[in-house]
Amino acid sequence: MPDLNFDGQRTWYATHGLHSYAAKCPPQLVRFGLSYYSKPGDRILDPMVGGGTTLVESCLLGRDAIGYDIDPLARLIAKVKSYPLSDTVIERAFLKVSSLVEADLAELKKQAPASSVVKRATPPEFHNRDYWFLPEVSQALTLLAYHIEQVEMRRSVREFLWVAFSSLILARTSVANARDVIHSRHHYWEHPEPPDVMAKFKSRVNLMRQQMREFVEKNRVEDVVTRAHIGDARCLRVRSESIDLVFTSPPYATAIDYSRAHFLAVPWMSGVLGVTFDKYLLLGPSYIGTERGRFRGDFTIHQKLRRYETAHSVLSRLAETSPRHAKLTQRYFLDMQQVFTRIARVLRTGGHAIVVVCPSHIRKVAVPTHTVFTEMGKEFGLRTKKLHTRTINERRRILPYMLEEFGKRMDTEYVIIFQKS
Ligand SMILES: C[S@@+](CC[C@H](N)C(=O)[O-])C[C@H]1O[C@@H](n2cnc3c(N)ncnc32)[C@H](O)[C@@H]1O
Repeated sequence: MPDLNFDGQRTWYATHGLHSYAAKCPPQLVRFGLSYYSKPGDRILDPMVGGGTTLVESCLLGRDAIGYDIDPLARLIAKVKSYPLSDTVIERAFLKVSSLVEADLAELKKQAPASSVVKRATPPEFHNRDYWFLPEVSQALTLLAYHIEQVEMRRSVREFLWVAFSSLILARTSVANARDVIHSRHHYWEHPEPPDVMAKFKSRVNLMRQQMREFVEKNRVEDVVTRAHIGDARCLRVRSESIDLVFTSPPYATAIDYSRAHFLAVPWMSGVLGVTFDKYLLLGPSYIGTERGRFRGDFTIHQKLRRYETAHSVLSRLAETSPRHAKLTQRYFLDMQQVFTRIARVLRTGGHAIVVVCPSHIRKVAVPTHTVFTEMGKEFGLRTKKLHTRTINERRRILPYMLEEFGKRMDTEYVIIFQKS
């Protein structure tokens, strides 16, 4: 059994670093799960695929894989990261797009720029646009988005360039007036000088090209099929008994608000994401683990959860300190119960499900989510075969909700190995 802490190991190999993603799984952990509990040619499912770590590793290890996520940006990132692309086709499209944007930017500096260029450099309207983006930045992003969409190229290459575009905004150092954007609470931070969007785009794409070359190089198994879809893990459209291994790291209760984390990129990308900004914002309350939504009436423990000892005791304690948080946590448990029924249905008998989760603290009440999950799994025929722990020591993965009382870190993550009997 390998040490699951992976101290000092590189987590950004191949396409894993193509785009940041909050609470991304270390690729080595996925690799461990796939290597121990599946074989080449098996079919893997990640029902909450996020930034696509499961898909990339499946591809590298010669397993077919399918990923779902409720978030359209997650799906785009996961798809691009797990789709091998030749450098030549990326380079051709990238040079074309860059030269067209630069020509337009030069035109705009003239005293009387062509009206067609002025028109296509007019940014989309959205709430607080000028608060989050300086006018020069908005203009360059608008032109970049325009040419990524208009230049003739294969869809997979266009999607690659869209991921580069998104990573200009959703990054620790963003071109938006914000810092550390990938985490859900953005900190407003105005650039002293407008950032050079095109210079950043070029260096981003060049780095991503290197990463893609490494992915293609490592990806020696032919005929592997990976797919990323938009979908809800609570109602998966996957054939019963068709999956050999599920690997997933679900969101935690009331932790990261993914739709808020992504909202600065979405208004520029509604075409490729297939969703308008307004509709995207409405999706927020349907993400598992979100704090959003309204609850009416008094709190009572839902009858579907009464049979789980741990869930029952956590909810009773929470109800004493904060009925709202009891309701939020209850909704989370009910959602995850639905996910477990789906996992149990799609897994073949004897197949495994690996679920990675960190316990949390909500309103100073300890929430041992891993124990609740093992109780749920048992009900649906998923026997807990092993329960591994690992220490989260990468700084990136220490998130605010992992702080216990008095700021002590919760740094133990659980890797639950279920087997369907
Ligand atoms: C912790 S992240 C997964 C990270 C992923 N393992 C990786 O390495 O990038 C959890 C994901 O669950 C997704 N999610 C939340 N609610 C969902 C739902 N109802 N159906 C599918 N995905 C959902 C979020 O959008 C987020 O991408």
